[in-house]
Amino acid sequence: MAVRRKFKLKPNAIILLKRVGIVLGILLAIFLFYRHNINELKKLGYSEKASNTILFKFKKSYVMDIGKNKTLNAAFESKDYKEKNIDNYSKIKYQNHKHLIKHINLLLKKGYHNKDISLILAHGTDNDVEEFIKHKKIRYIEEFFTIDCAKINNYDRYIAYSDETGEDEETVVVSVNLDMDKEPYKEPLKIRKYNKYVLVTKHRQLMKSYKPKLVNIDKKYALDSKQKSVKEAKDAFIKMYKAAKKKGYEIYINSSYRSYEEQEKICNTYSSLYGQSYIEKYVAKPGYSEHQTGLVFDIASKKNKIFAESKEYKWMQENAYKYGFIQRYPKGYEEITGFRAEQWHYRYVGKKIAKYIYDHKITYDEYYIRFLDK
Ligand code: DAL
Ligand code: ZN
Repeated sequence: MAVRRKFKLKPNAIILLKRVGIVLGILLAIFLFYRHNINELKKLGYSEKASNTILFKFKKSYVMDIGKNKTLNAAFESKDYKEKNIDNYSKIKYQNHKHLIKHINLLLKKGYHNKDISLILAHGTDNDVEEFIKHKKIRYIEEFFTIDCAKINNYDRYIAYSDETGEDEETVVVSVNLDMDKEPYKEPLKIRKYNKYVLVTKHRQLMKSYKPKLVNIDKKYALDSKQKSVKEAKDAFIKMYKAAKKKGYEIYINSSYRSYEEQEKICNTYSSLYGQSYIEKYVAKPGYSEHQTGLVFDIASKKNKIFAESKEYKWMQENAYKYGFIQRYPKGYEEITGFRAEQWHYRYVGKKIAKYIYDHKITYDEYYIRFLDK
């Protein structure tokens, strides 16, 4: 008969097991407590990474008092976090910049206040801020940077243009952003992104090879020669044409899309007829004409050779915007557009923008700089 031996632990082993149990229990409690804290911070809007650092640095109650704060979150995520700047982080407006915290630390070191730093960060990219930090400290940041479209890397030019012209700050910022402090056609910005909002000026050049997708326009809408444009602009023009016709006005297309080469020919012809100064004054050089975008129509009236004196022009002035068109070179704005008034030249920008420009009596140049130049 087999003898069954009862398995019995020695008293020492029991004590050891109990101890292990207690330790495990404590560890589990700590872990649960830790997860509970992390979850609380995450609920508040902090990332897992930031939450870990917050707990590790014993800053939970500080953070809970502040609440959700994107800059603080970025600081706790960053290797550049500096304890002494914690109050600043929470008061500086967040920007999605790669070196946000490093730049905040450097700007604080330079003596900028939280409000200034928020403005600086909001008006430039990560690289712009990097450059700006090398600049000697600016005393009155608010002078230009309370204007939404101000750019920190244009700061010196704002000062120079302001000294030169005595214009108000908003005018200075818009003008410099349009490169009006530079010579026309010199060092132009090369346009590489094309859409229906593209801004072409004497400082912003289209690529020679750029050709938009074009559609033919029925001859009945044209004054004499065949015309082409971007489809959206053509559709809008036809709607406008029909509305005008209903009221007894006849608007015809005199010129629409022109290639780089066609614009070159125009310049050469006018230059040999009237001299180069005529070109400089009145005609856009190749690459600088927005006719190359396919979004433009020069309008004519059959009855009146001078469009500005026609009843059609009067109608266009009050109605073109309803169809998404603006007079691109209005009278009184020659300084900004760089061209004399052209009552016949209409640019398609879509109804929303056209209405804004109509309501506020501004140029497309200004609209673009304020709202689209990102
Ligand atoms: N005539 C205008 C300026 C152009 O060619 O675009
Ligand atoms: Zn034109």
